Amino acid sequence: MITTKQLHPLFVGEVSGVDLRGPLDPAMVEAIVHASDRYAVLVFRDQDLTDEQQVAFSTRLGPLETTIRKLRPGHELRLDQHVSDISNLDHQGNVLEREDRRRMYSLGDRLWHTDSSFKALPAKYSLLSARAIPSSGGQTQFADLRAAYDALPDAMKAQLEGLVAEHSIIYSRSTIGFTDFADEERAGLPPVPQKLVRTHPGSRRKTLYLASHAMAIRGMPVPEARLLLRDLLEHATQPEFVYTHTWRLGDLVMWDDRCTMHRARDFDPAERRDMHRTTVSDVASTLEQS
Ligand SMILES: [Fe+2]
Repeated sequence: MITTKQLHPLFVGEVSGVDLRGPLDPAMVEAIVHASDRYAVLVFRDQDLTDEQQVAFSTRLGPLETTIRKLRPGHELRLDQHVSDISNLDHQGNVLEREDRRRMYSLGDRLWHTDSSFKALPAKYSLLSARAIPSSGGQTQFADLRAAYDALPDAMKAQLEGLVAEHSIIYSRSTIGFTDFADEERAGLPPVPQKLVRTHPGSRRKTLYLASHAMAIRGMPVPEARLLLRDLLEHATQPEFVYTHTWRLGDLVMWDDRCTMHRARDFDPAERRDMHRTTVSDVASTLEQS
């Protein structure tokens, strides 16, 4: 059976005793889900996975998302459409030019976010596998949104109850000056509503559901909403709620997008960083979940 070592006082566990290349019996998958419900971020070391093995394990956790990069007219995918290409490489494996549109787009991942909150059916889990890492930098930071919710004053909790935010990746990219979206992409990515507070199904704990993609709150003037969202983001990313993951080759980190945020950190753009992500879809829009 697996054992889990705590890497952060609030969340994040390092799991040992499992080879994710499989095959895994149902009890093992259940144990991993159970650990995830407790920790929200799980670190698996020394998992030398192929994309096929990563897809096979991820599929055991639910149906997989397909990448939105295929919305880009003429964009050639480097990887299978079920594997998000979180790299700074072109389809021939060369490091992208500093000004490359794909690199500019990817810089949006350095804003605090939760994956796919801009989709009506958002992400449940993300699984990120380190295939090439820079000599320094390029860490991923995670924030514990259940603990952040717990720490809010009661009056704020009452104020947030029932609020619905609108999430858009076009908005979040625009906040760092990236606006290069084709009409087809814009049409395919309208803002979507998501609850601002939700109950995490596996732990029954309440959690903020927050991301830089959140651009408005229904029924609230926009400047007021954006200030509230900024305050919440600032609250949730205080050092006590944040874990910084320094990648080792072969790491696979699995996180629960329903109750965490994450962001990537800077690294030398001349160095290779190749990360492959599989993403498990949630079961319904947050508006349809109790
Ligand atoms: Fe992400």
